[in-house]
Order: sequence, then C-alpha cells, then structure tokens
Amino acid sequence: MPYFTKLFMAKIKRIGVLTSGGDAPGMNAAIRGVVRTAVYNGLEVMGIRQGYQGMIDASFIPMQSSSVSDIIQRGGTILKTARCEEFRSPEGRLKAYNNLKDAQIDGVVVIGGDGSFTGGRIFNEEYDIPFVGIPGTIDNDIYGTDYTIGYDTALNTVVEAVDKIRDTASAHNRMFFVEVMGAEAGFIALYSGIATGAEAIIIPEIEGADQDLKTMIEAGNTRKKSSNIIIVAEGHKEGGAFAMAEKVKNDFKDYDVRVSVLGHLQRGGSPSAIDRVNASRLGHAAVEALIDDQKSVMVGIMNGEITLVPFRRAVKLHKDVNHDLVDLAKILSV
Ligand code: F6P
Repeated sequence: MPYFTKLFMAKIKRIGVLTSGGDAPGMNAAIRGVVRTAVYNGLEVMGIRQGYQGMIDASFIPMQSSSVSDIIQRGGTILKTARCEEFRSPEGRLKAYNNLKDAQIDGVVVIGGDGSFTGGRIFNEEYDIPFVGIPGTIDNDIYGTDYTIGYDTALNTVVEAVDKIRDTASAHNRMFFVEVMGAEAGFIALYSGIATGAEAIIIPEIEGADQDLKTMIEAGNTRKKSSNIIIVAEGHKEGGAFAMAEKVKNDFKDYDVRVSVLGHLQRGGSPSAIDRVNASRLGHAAVEALIDDQKSVMVGIMNGEITLVPFRRAVKLHKDVNHDLVDLAKILSV
C-alpha cells in the first residue's frame, strides 16, 4: 500500500509517550525520536508524565517538535519516570484506560524495562489501545534485543570509574571490590570487567564465584600483582561486594582490601553517541510500528537491524550473557 494511503487509513491519530522504571541515559533521545517521527507523520503527541502513574492521574502534556529541542544530549528523562504499583491492579488500569480515551490517545509508546512491558502486555490483553515498547534500562537484560537504551553510557561510566580506582589500587598494592548495577544480570559487570582488565568478574549467571575467586587470588598472589580489581554485579546470591570482601579479608589476611559501590552514578550523565543514535532509531521504529497497527510488541535491535518482539517473549524469556566472553575474561586475567 502506498505510504500516504497507509497514513490516511491509519487508526492512530494521537499517540502518548512515557518513560517508566529506572531512568537510563538516552531516554530523552528516544522521546525526541518518537515526537519528531510522529510530527513528521502528521500525528499528535501527548507526553505522559511519571510513567504509568501519569496515565492514572491524567498527567498529560501536548508535545510539539519544539518540546524536544535541546534534549538529545541530556541524561534523565524530561517526562520523569516512576515504578507504579497502582497500574498492577485492574482498577488502576481501568482508570488509565478511561483517561487515555478521554484524551483521545489511540496508541502509546512505553520506554522502559521488563516490568514496564509486563504492565503493557496485561493492559493490551484487556483494552484496545495498542502499546509499543522501547527497551530502556542500563542493565541490558531484555530478551529479543542486543541493546537497551542507557547500557552503553553506563558501561563507559563504569569503565571510567574503575580506571580511576585502578590507579589508587596500584599505588597502595590494594585489592578493590567494585560493585556495579545490573539487578539480576551481569552484562555491565562482564563488559566493564573485560574493558578494565579486571582480575575477576562475579556475575549472577555463573555459579561457583567463591571458588573461582579463591583460585584467582592464589594465582595472583604467586605472580605478585600490584593491584587487583574484582567487579561484582549487584544481586549476586553469594552476596554483594561487601560480603565478598569480608570473606577474602578472613581467608587472605595479607591483602589490603577496599570496597567501592558505584551505585546510581551509573544511571546519570549525558548519553554516549551509540545511545543517542540507537535511541533515535528505536523512537522512530516505535511510531512506525503503531502506524502499522502493531500492539503489545517491543522494538529492538538485533545484529544492527530493527526487530519487533512480542512483549510476552521479551518479558518471559531470559537473555543470557555470552559465555565465550566469560571464558575470555578468565584467560586474559592470568
Ligand atoms: O533497572 C536498573 C537498575 O539500575 C538496577 O540495576 C538496579 O537494581 C535498580 O535499577 C535500582 O533502581 P532504584 O534504586 O531506582 O530502585
């Protein structure tokens, strides 16, 4: 069907856009991609503030092309974000639906992580307003896409921080446990560990971290390394960086051990070029998907190409780390 005929016949005239869950650098670039693509296609756009909470409270703001000027380089999200308990209940979703109907919003772009897509999937089983998702989380833990918005920036932030910690570790012959974000996933830890030449990387996906660490320390001790960096992904069932550091202090009394938890600084800052470009592509693709009558799907990037993945799959299936990289990290840290 010719493009303009398709647009004329499209059911979507006005879309909403929101950011939900933890913020991630590049969310603003995605909002910009959504708004500008919608305007280009003659659609109206409403910004929904504070994620699903804004749907329930009817916190909508009309957006034009100029609303997203000068934001591509900014971290955080101009629409604000939240984790919304009320949207988990049927009553909350009904309020949201009624508000969307009243505001004549006929499709919604949700920028967020798997919790946000679970909400979208349930809503789309109950109501006829289509939702399309854009993966936005620094954790990179969403199935069906190689990439999530914010991951690249967060990774670079971690690398910069660990490089600095390495300087002081070397100066004092110290061992540092550095805890990074990732909830239940080790993507940030694994990639930052390889990029910084960490002596060990502890991630939830790999069992037996304790034993590996012991072997590594014994080996490093023989070679008399002047510094040791152990990257620990938060949420590891054997404990975080503090718990692991305590064990090492007890087992290896000669080591001067310190802990550094990088925390929320990983979520802030100006997005990297990769995050800006990918977020722009995904914002554009999400609006095209709504125009094409898609619903309950996430747009992703696999092998450099835009893909569509049902919310059901994106939230249910587990994305694993690349185990070749786990082996590589071990080989290169001998
Ligand atoms: O989803 C991203 C993430 O940064 C996780 O790695 C982390 O566990 C979580 O958010 C913490 O978020 P908050 O402090 O906002 O609850």
